[in-house]
Amino acid sequence: MTETMDQIYSSWAHRLRQNQGIRSLMEDLGQVTGHPDEILLGGGNPAHIPEAEAIFRDIFLSLAKEPSLTSLLGDYQAPIGNDHFRELAAESLSPYLGANLKKENIAFLNGSQNAYSFLLNLHSGPMADGSFQKILLPIVPEYIGYADQTITNDVFIATPPNVVPTGKHRFRYELNKEAFDLDGVGVLAISRPTNPTGNILSLSDLEWMEERTRKQNIPFLIDLAYGNPFPNLIGNEAPIHYEKGRTLSLSFSKIGLPGVRLGIVVSDEETIETLSSFAAVGNLAVGNLGLYMMEILFQKKVLPELSKHILRPFYESKRDLALGVFTTTFEKMGVDYEIHDPMGGFFLWVRFPSLSITNHELYHLCKDKRLFIVSGHYFFPGLNSDFSHTKDCIRLTYCRKEEELARGAQILAEIVASHQAKSK
Ligand SMILES: Cc1ncc(COP(=O)(O)O)c(C=O)c1O
Repeated sequence: MTETMDQIYSSWAHRLRQNQGIRSLMEDLGQVTGHPDEILLGGGNPAHIPEAEAIFRDIFLSLAKEPSLTSLLGDYQAPIGNDHFRELAAESLSPYLGANLKKENIAFLNGSQNAYSFLLNLHSGPMADGSFQKILLPIVPEYIGYADQTITNDVFIATPPNVVPTGKHRFRYELNKEAFDLDGVGVLAISRPTNPTGNILSLSDLEWMEERTRKQNIPFLIDLAYGNPFPNLIGNEAPIHYEKGRTLSLSFSKIGLPGVRLGIVVSDEETIETLSSFAAVGNLAVGNLGLYMMEILFQKKVLPELSKHILRPFYESKRDLALGVFTTTFEKMGVDYEIHDPMGGFFLWVRFPSLSITNHELYHLCKDKRLFIVSGHYFFPGLNSDFSHTKDCIRLTYCRKEEELARGAQILAEIVASHQAKSK
């Protein structure tokens, strides 16, 4: 940055300009040229599933008729949504979130990314009582999109997780209870399932942490973008319920509607009220399309069935397919690899312990061959200690076609095999 830029840009702007994480990932998604050689294993776009798209198309077409259209296009919502949408969401979500929700517990935002940009700033940085509070990510790697959302610098803290071998070439990250420390912490955040690893934190670990956070009145943000109640990609793990002290975030993106930009926050009345102030200032209003689509989806009770009969079977079979494709190719090419147990979501988190280049360099070598992956180093905000996984892991989506996964696996394996410190 030049001196003039220092003059006209805030330190937050400066930090955002340096951030190559979420921006590089989303730009990769947006710069897809459609070239037949392109292999898109990078961003978190959901798959195009014809049965799901048919449902969404019918709803969209019904909304394109009068009288809905006039209001959909021509009227603002209240900042976090009009009351009748909030009432409907409270009523529809209550049985799935094990709570008796009221409209005062519901806020709609323009995607859960938008919700987090408010929630993280709401609970961290310089506080009204004069203290300074940090955001604890109790397990890293954690979602790339949280980093840099805060106006204040250096608010994330994290400790390395326990790495537990679970089988040949397999491992799992577990909560590091010994290092768990709430000193100076204003809020905790997890995604469940975790993006990027597909980990699903157990309810007992969650309760263990909440025994401690509740004593100090520290809120817990739980990001359910891939979780229950929809798309419900949680394998055999138990669903999360709403309880006081938790702020849950749901999204329409991973059911197949990322272009609609609808995020739903479930929290206590005070937090929802505060979000309304943030939303009024930052957005004026939540967009209409997602809410109108939600009204039909909730009234017809479509989402539980869609999740159970279409989304889950689709992603689970894709996961098994991808595991088969990648492990066979890695074995064949002599690649030293470990894969995190993919318990949910739609990513594989792969470690190359013998890699002689960094994961970021690997990303560039893959991109030169039109293979898009995500370098793992972005997923450790707040971690200041040395942890080899920050340098030798990558994230891959398995939402793509078998043929594309196979070509991607081959290119990746060739590059890794030629950059291993020691061959197996
Ligand atoms: C864990 C997680 N949270 C939140 C988001 C943001 O999603 P959206 O803003 O589309 O709801 C994503 C997107 O990839 C995600 O993976």
